[in-house]
Amino acid sequence: MRSAFLVALLILCFCSVSHAGDLGELTPAEGADGWKTVEMEGASLSWIGNEDSFSFRLEAPSTGWVAVGFGGGPAMKDASLIMGYADDDGAHYRDDHGTSPVSHSPDIDNNGADDILEADVQEYGDSTVFTFTLPVEPSDDLDPVLSPGDAIRILVAWGGGDGFSGMHREALSARIEL
Ligand code: HEM
Repeated sequence: MRSAFLVALLILCFCSVSHAGDLGELTPAEGADGWKTVEMEGASLSWIGNEDSFSFRLEAPSTGWVAVGFGGGPAMKDASLIMGYADDDGAHYRDDHGTSPVSHSPDIDNNGADDILEADVQEYGDSTVFTFTLPVEPSDDLDPVLSPGDAIRILVAWGGGDGFSGMHREALSARIEL
C-alpha cells in the first residue's frame, strides 16, 4: 500500500516537471527543396531522403538537450533515440536505445553501434538546432529501417539542461509518413 502511494507520488512528480503527449498523425508541409516539416508544440522537425540516408533537422525551444526518436513505444521503450546538445566544448550527440518506457542508454551498451553518419548541434538564442544523418539501412537491430513514404512513429523531446540524462521539459510522440 505504502509502495503504491510512493509510485503514484513519483509519477505525479515526473508529470509536474515534464509535459508530454501524443499528437496523433501529422501531415508534413513539403518545401520546394524537398524537405518535409512538421510543427510539434514549438519545435520544428524536418527531414529529407537522400540516396542511402535520411537527413533530419530539429529546432527546439531549449538550450539544453534535444532529441528525436523513432519507433518503439510506449514512451521510450524500444525506440531509437538520437540525442544532442551544445556546450562550450562544442556539439555532443549520441545514438541511444529506449531500454524501458522511462529509460535509455547508448546503442553501444546494448550490443549495437552508433549509427549517426554526421551531425551538428548549434544554439541560436533560446533555441537549439540539431542536424543529423542516419543510414537507410541501420547497422544493428536497434535502429529503424528508413524508407521514403513509410508510416513511422516519431518522438521529439527536449530538456532544460545539457547532458544525456536529465528529465525532459517536453516529450511528444506522433506518426508521420517519411
Ligand atoms: C534524458 C533522460 C530521460 C528521462 C529521465 C525520461 C523519463 C521519462 C519519464 C519518467 C516518462 C514518464 C512520465 C512522463 O510522461 O513525463 C517519460 C515519458 C516519455 N518520454 Fe522520456 N525520458 C528521457 C528522455 C527521453 C527522450 C530522449 C525521448 C525522445 C526523444 C523521450 C520521450 C518520451 C516520451 C514520448 C514519453 C511519453 C510521453 C507521452 O506520450 O505521454 N524521453 N520519460
